[in-house]
Amino acid sequence: MKILALVFAARRDETSKTLQMTKELCGMIGRRCEDAAFEILTMSELPVQACVGCKTCFLEGFCPQDGEDGMAELRRKVIDCDALIAATPVYMCSVSGWCKIFLDRCARWCHVFELLGKPGLVLSVTGASGAERAADYLSECLEVMGCAVAARLPLQKLGEGLVIGGEEARTAMESAAEALLDAVEHPEQYLSERAETQFRGIRQNYRSLETFRLLMGQSCSDEINTFRERGLMGCASLREALQKKGKTES
Ligand SMILES: Cc1cc2nc3c(=O)[nH]c(=O)nc-3n(C[C@H](O)[C@H](O)[C@H](O)COP(=O)(O)O)c2cc1C
Repeated sequence: MKILALVFAARRDETSKTLQMTKELCGMIGRRCEDAAFEILTMSELPVQACVGCKTCFLEGFCPQDGEDGMAELRRKVIDCDALIAATPVYMCSVSGWCKIFLDRCARWCHVFELLGKPGLVLSVTGASGAERAADYLSECLEVMGCAVAARLPLQKLGEGLVIGGEEARTAMESAAEALLDAVEHPEQYLSERAETQFRGIRQNYRSLETFRLLMGQSCSDEINTFRERGLMGCASLREALQKKGKTES
């Protein structure tokens, strides 16, 4: 089983707490699952440029920038892995710039539910504040791409909450490791209500847009065509789409 950990920290050496905690978490998962193989990537290894806002990904299904940086390889790795860990340090009350840039470049994925049923785990590390907010934001972004986020770990160095080195943080990490492995077996149990809401909204929009365009004799954008090709137009919920996907793949 391939587990990919994306660490959105600027520091890639052992001084990074985000990297340290990610490694510790991988150790906990590895002790529970013998056949887990980990790849831990920091963004300075596969740098990604900021989105230029051209919307080619929505309209034509590809990113013109993918040939110029590490994003194409990163996409392949995210799509290929069996479970994804996304870890960010807290910068200015939120996720790091590295993390935001990566998410912006994945914007198309939340229109076509590219990560439908992919088990995920979110980790954030802060000095003293903002870990909850960063973890929740990162989790929401993955959820609306269809990811089955099994656990969120908002960790901090100081203050109240899951303080690194403390018993509570350790227990939360052990539970999160357990939950991620459970999500590999039962991803449908981790699809969130906000992902379902996103799915219903997009499906309704795409249905209307498709009808309108057909009436006008116009072609549809790539994301609408992809949504249809994936059988999502005919699904009443994301859960149903995941069940159908499971049947096609097995
Ligand atoms: C640019 C920057 C912004 C930061 N903003 C916050 C913040 O808003 N709140 C906070 O408690 N800590 C903040 N910190 C501290 C980091 O969250 C903390 O040092 C964390 O461990 C950094 O991750 P790293 O150890 O993986 O590099 C900030 C650090 C940096 C470099």
